[in-house]
Amino acid sequence: MSELTATEKEKAKKYYPLPKLAEKARIKSMDAYFKKWKYSVEHMEEFWADEAKKLDFFTPYEKVWQPPTGRNDEFVGKWFVGGKLNATYNCLDRWVEKGYGDEVALIWMGEDDTVKKFTYKSLMEEVNKAANALKSLGVKKGDRVCLWLPMVDSLAIIMLACARIGAIHSIVFGGFSAESVKDRIDDSACKILVVADEVRRAGKPRPMKNSLKGVIETCDSIEYVAIIKLTGGEVYQYEKDVDFLALMEQQSTECKSEPMDAEDPLFILYTSGTTGKPKGVVHTTAGYLVYGISSNYYVWDYSCLLDLKGDTPATRDVWYCTADIGWITGHTEIIYSPLALGAISVMYEGIPTWPHGGRFWEICEKFGVTHFYTAPTAIRALKKLGDENVTKWDLSKLKMLGTVGEVCNWPEWKWYWDVVGKGTSGDKPVGRPIVDSYWQTETGSYMMVNLGAITPMKPGSCTFPFFGIHPILLDEDGNKVTKPNTQAYFTYDLSWPGLMRTVWNDHPRFVNTYLTRFPGYYVTGDYALIDDEGYYFILGRSDDVIKVSGHRLGSAEVEAAINSHPKVVESAVIPYPHSVKGSTIFAYITLMNDDEASEELKKDIQNHVRSVAGPAVYPEVIMFAGAVPKTRSGKIMRRILKAVAEQKDIGNTMTLANPEVVEELIARRKMMGEIKF
Ligand code: PRX
Repeated sequence: MSELTATEKEKAKKYYPLPKLAEKARIKSMDAYFKKWKYSVEHMEEFWADEAKKLDFFTPYEKVWQPPTGRNDEFVGKWFVGGKLNATYNCLDRWVEKGYGDEVALIWMGEDDTVKKFTYKSLMEEVNKAANALKSLGVKKGDRVCLWLPMVDSLAIIMLACARIGAIHSIVFGGFSAESVKDRIDDSACKILVVADEVRRAGKPRPMKNSLKGVIETCDSIEYVAIIKLTGGEVYQYEKDVDFLALMEQQSTECKSEPMDAEDPLFILYTSGTTGKPKGVVHTTAGYLVYGISSNYYVWDYSCLLDLKGDTPATRDVWYCTADIGWITGHTEIIYSPLALGAISVMYEGIPTWPHGGRFWEICEKFGVTHFYTAPTAIRALKKLGDENVTKWDLSKLKMLGTVGEVCNWPEWKWYWDVVGKGTSGDKPVGRPIVDSYWQTETGSYMMVNLGAITPMKPGSCTFPFFGIHPILLDEDGNKVTKPNTQAYFTYDLSWPGLMRTVWNDHPRFVNTYLTRFPGYYVTGDYALIDDEGYYFILGRSDDVIKVSGHRLGSAEVEAAINSHPKVVESAVIPYPHSVKGSTIFAYITLMNDDEASEELKKDIQNHVRSVAGPAVYPEVIMFAGAVPKTRSGKIMRRILKAVAEQKDIGNTMTLANPEVVEELIARRKMMGEIKF
């Protein structure tokens, strides 16, 4: 065997959290973790009953878990059966009632440096006004409300207002298009759309409401379009428009929270899958909240009101998650979990690189952030900008760092550790921990994660399961894989409260996507391996989901957007390596008329996709192809397309219906030369 290089040796080391963190940790040693984990999976009902004490129920539940009857479509069962509660009561009122009304709940900062500090009381009052405003528009328990907004405080307020009155929010990421908003509104028959007049982005107003022109008129279920005036810019008027902030100002600051059944949906969040349109992932009230707060409580150890017994808080930790609320991370990690724990949560409107490349660190210094949670793609982007953007800020308050969304690979991990965390090196490197949290829109919160204060880290590994989580690796035939360092399908064989319950309006799709491939298991769609010390490593998707800048896109959706261009017959998209985004989209496109292939047409298709699917969906590389390789059953062979794009060995083409196209693709790819991002 060849010698390891210096980097490989460094990478293969274990990294340790600063020992002082363990003293104050809720779980103080790895022995204690393993013991509690064993208990949590062997006595899951007792374990989750204990965790549920972290919530306040209006009516206690009768049964912790109603197990499935054994039918494949009932993997999850029902959690906290018969319990009644309200998410905003748990996030806001209970802290006010316990005398913590003046404690800071949410610190919001705008792109222009405006800061709004909401206390638990002032946030509750804003939420109540928004809840009353929604009611005045006829919104009732169970109705769906779509929110398409940038990262403004109104987004936090209105999502909580929905939860207060039992309306189900469906938040659509601001980087998606009006057409994507329409698809989501139609799928769940939303009554109200909340949208901003314009978005503030890198100092300039960008259109938002105007892009709905001609689209929103076709959404039959919409009764009102609630406008949040951010810039006051000129926007087109629609007869169903309501000035929502003005309406809120007329409302009372009191609004009783609606008692919801434990299993009532709290929200729908659409996410990309392998085929067809996005799936409306449904999360419930009690299960989602219990799981979110339990995982945040043990993983991060940040101080929170939950631990206090009527005493005044000493200095409190400050939690800053940089995600957009349009994704699950923002739902769970900016709003529901930190507020239900009684933490201080920071929310920022803008991007990390404007007005300067040290914006995140400036925010950390300004608010004394102790716990910082971001995505590998952001780390890569910031690493490129140079260390001085980080080192000029005072980050001495930071205790823990974290990542989510994709594998945090060695170069960005090491930079995060050295430059942001100032971890020391040496034989036993010790420093600020980097929490690598692996989870999904579907799973509500972390599945695999290190407990920041105690778990020895291995760069690129999400380490071990969270409590109550029982991961299983399976081979093609559904046999358990126990051999170390063997790639396998990543699944779970035990239900937990935070798992999605269904796909909105399409339970069969839920069953087919997650529960059918290996009956009795929830299938994540990822490959993973376990090393010889039991550390888990995620190896990427086993399906056609593409991650661009940590954002989840379905190949079918991107292809549908490309195919809607009048000159396109067919397309196939694959992920292509990108040094900042992780992957970018490489599109093979077959034209009606191959002679029309030109650089101008590529640009035109890119612009078309942007307008149809939104700026988040951008086919950065386009290669025109006479045809794409397919199996005899008509399935696109993406493995071959990936190999052609990356100019690697294409392997076996025996199963193709049209092997002859491959040579042509290789030749065309060669003509494009080196493509490096
Ligand atoms: O492929 C895994 C990857 O992101 C997928 C889930 O994407 P999404 O539903 O958008 O949720 C992202 C934020 C929770 C997973 O199936 N993924 C997420 N976290 C990690 C990861 N891959 C490796 N390591 C992670 N920490």
